[in-house]
Amino acid sequence: MSLDLRWVEARLDTAFVGRRIVYRQSIPTTQDLARAEAEGGTPEGTAVLAEEQTVGRGRLGRSWVSPAGLNLYLTLVMRPPLERLRYLSMIAPLAAAQAAEEAAGVSPRLKWPNDVLVGGRKLAGVLIETELSGSSVRYALVGIGLNVNLEVERVPGIADIATSLKREAGRPVSREEVLAALLNRFEALYDEGGAVYAAWRSRLETLGRQVRVTFGDQVEEGLAEDVDAEGSLVLRRADGSRVTIAAGDVTLRQ
Ligand code: BTN
Repeated sequence: MSLDLRWVEARLDTAFVGRRIVYRQSIPTTQDLARAEAEGGTPEGTAVLAEEQTVGRGRLGRSWVSPAGLNLYLTLVMRPPLERLRYLSMIAPLAAAQAAEEAAGVSPRLKWPNDVLVGGRKLAGVLIETELSGSSVRYALVGIGLNVNLEVERVPGIADIATSLKREAGRPVSREEVLAALLNRFEALYDEGGAVYAAWRSRLETLGRQVRVTFGDQVEEGLAEDVDAEGSLVLRRADGSRVTIAAGDVTLRQ
């Protein structure tokens, strides 16, 4: 079933996010089409959506499982001022979590930096690719993949680590409802500016936990003590020293 975009448009209360939607049945990845749109000068807030991605991209060179007709795969073209760029990686997972709550009654937590989890399993992921020109942002491509009606048990390799709204809610969930909520929430959070930091921080299940963080070829272990206003993780090592990590991959330790 294709998405009913008219239904979605009728429920948008945004000024610019999702007001232009570029929709395709099957493409390699929405990130690349969004990049072409951004280079062509598409308005801020343009949403590039696909029913299926044949080479969906995840963070850290991973792939993103993107079968047709079940989930949401979208990339938003944003052009924030440089000092607000960092908020995008808080806004995107938070908007996905709020949309899951609104449309399916599911209450996700966040795992630093921007995974959306339910019961420790991944519901949604965020990939942000940024093009800068000197000290200004040409554009940021905010990619969001949200598992709506995916039957995770049927997908080898992710059955134990992923979940979907259908699995959590125990019923099929309308992708249109989730999409409209996601676009509405995204713009509302974007307009809030710095206030998003407190909301993002309060949903982080990472804080107060013993974690292992991998970034590049480095590994740090310790207590995830806090996140700073830049979104970086503040880690307390076993020897009492502190280290601040801007981006990485966290494993929560028991
Ligand atoms: C992650 O958690 O690793 C990030 C996953 C991001 C997936 C989305 S789906 C829409 C957009 N297009 C892609 O190829 N990736 C992002």
